[in-house]
Amino acid sequence: MNSTIAQLRTRFEAALGAAFGEDFAATDPILVPASNPKFGDFQSNVAMSLTKKLGKAPRAIAEQIVQQLQVEEICEPPTIAGPGFINLTLKTAYLEEQLRSIAADERLGVAPIKQPQRVIVDFSAPNTAKEMHVGHLRSTIIGDSIARVLEFQGQDVLRLNHIGDWGTQFGMLITYLQTAFPDALITANALALGDLTTFYKQAKQRFDEDEAFRDASRLAVVRLQSGDEDALKAWQLLCEQSRIAYQEIYDLLDIQLVERGESFYNPLLPGVVEDLEKAGLLVEDQGAQCVFLEGFTNKEGEPLPLIVQKSDGGYNYAATDLAAIRYRIQQDHADRIIYVTDAGQANHFAQVWQVARRAGWIPDTVELVHVPFGFVQGEDGKKFKTRSGETVRLRDLLDEAIARARADLEARLKEDNRQESEEFIANVANVIGISAVKYADLSQNRTSNYIFSYDRMLALQGNTAPYMLYAYVRVQGISRKGQIDFKRLDSDAQILLKEETELVLAKHLLQLDEVIEQVGQDLFPNRLCQYLFELSQKYNQFYDRLPILQAAEPIRTSRLVLCDLTARTLKLGLSLLGIQVLERM
Ligand code: ARG
Repeated sequence: MNSTIAQLRTRFEAALGAAFGEDFAATDPILVPASNPKFGDFQSNVAMSLTKKLGKAPRAIAEQIVQQLQVEEICEPPTIAGPGFINLTLKTAYLEEQLRSIAADERLGVAPIKQPQRVIVDFSAPNTAKEMHVGHLRSTIIGDSIARVLEFQGQDVLRLNHIGDWGTQFGMLITYLQTAFPDALITANALALGDLTTFYKQAKQRFDEDEAFRDASRLAVVRLQSGDEDALKAWQLLCEQSRIAYQEIYDLLDIQLVERGESFYNPLLPGVVEDLEKAGLLVEDQGAQCVFLEGFTNKEGEPLPLIVQKSDGGYNYAATDLAAIRYRIQQDHADRIIYVTDAGQANHFAQVWQVARRAGWIPDTVELVHVPFGFVQGEDGKKFKTRSGETVRLRDLLDEAIARARADLEARLKEDNRQESEEFIANVANVIGISAVKYADLSQNRTSNYIFSYDRMLALQGNTAPYMLYAYVRVQGISRKGQIDFKRLDSDAQILLKEETELVLAKHLLQLDEVIEQVGQDLFPNRLCQYLFELSQKYNQFYDRLPILQAAEPIRTSRLVLCDLTARTLKLGLSLLGIQVLERM
């Protein structure tokens, strides 16, 4: 099925061609949903945009377009307003027919993409031996949602975890491991290492205080890079211990990722240097191999170098990303690569891409996208920290959200005198807690900072996960009360839209594919959140104002189909945000 707006666009293009000649058929009809329902459902501003080109008044242009516009089965006769807006109102019969068709479709009218692309989503990417912080939480939640949307569209998605598992810090960590935990090395038991954050801090302290330790650390890096067995074993143990900690978070959040850390690209780095050399881009500067960047300068206005290989022969974060991009295009055949990191890395990616482009690695058809996001702030507006000023452990943060969701639920049960099993309580608390955290993050425009507030994210009212989950539960309540099996509702049941609230809900339900397409394009999951929030509000108005189970047939069945469609849309939409629904809560 083609979305309504897409169909209207095609009709406009035809009308523009017929009115002003074939050249105009390629004009963007500038068709948008009407800002105010009193103007109808859609509005085209194309007449205003053509005044110069056609040398006519916009109203006259609008009239000419409307004369040619063939939309009878979709819209009421178009009207012209103001300077030359063309307003369109969808016909009720058309809406009824569209709803019937999406109700009968598993995918709710969202057709799979015709030519799937190979898309890499690079997200999460914590750093080995360091605790995953809230920035990684954002990357994980946003990246997962983007991957889910693209997967649902039918894209061929590769979810990559570019873990920071390589670099000079491992010299220090290995040396500390060998001195402080020799037993762990012998038994190769990652768990014997315990909490890696403490481990990291202790290693760092030792490094800062002890010169002999520093020297040993430097040697350890060299040993690791030359493939020394003991050094590798220690490194693997550290990676393994980190992996256990990350996996716990991924399990809790239901995140799938393929690990391809920085170390993976290590053997490919000399090839990168060679390629850049051949492309004539490499310049030696104070012993380091660099590429001088175009459009990036230092304070003195001199061109900035991107260091590919340091004077000691070592490589850095940027070099690894060069190897990664080359590999992803040459071996993975990526058509689109999406990097989900904090906004602070925008320059890093712009520089890496520039070098990769100049080296000729990036075909014109490949799209590189940075998906930046802002900081998570505490309720005081400052950086998100524990009371004692420590970084918040993700595990603790999620546990706290679940515990609070549980306390809220238990209070509600008590108030309503409801008895529920421990299993029910634990599951509901878990789903609400996790989805509240995810939704609070996703519902913000990701480029801005947001304030982390348990109270706000867990509220039953407002643009929150619990509000949305509750709308879904309300529909399931109808099915229980009326003993209705939605799945068996006649898929050919007639849909009748008589009341304003029905029409409003119906029109919103039909916008799902447009929203998904938009998110797949612009990668802003908050648009999907906003859509679902409005859907819940519109459903609640419909539910509050109109009888459903008490209505007479055929209205009753028609309204039940609207209920079911709302629930299915919520369930699908939330699943694309990585949020699971509940039948009861
Ligand atoms: N490990 C990095 C960090 O913690 C993120 C890596 C993002 N991906 C990449 N290809 N550079 O900020």
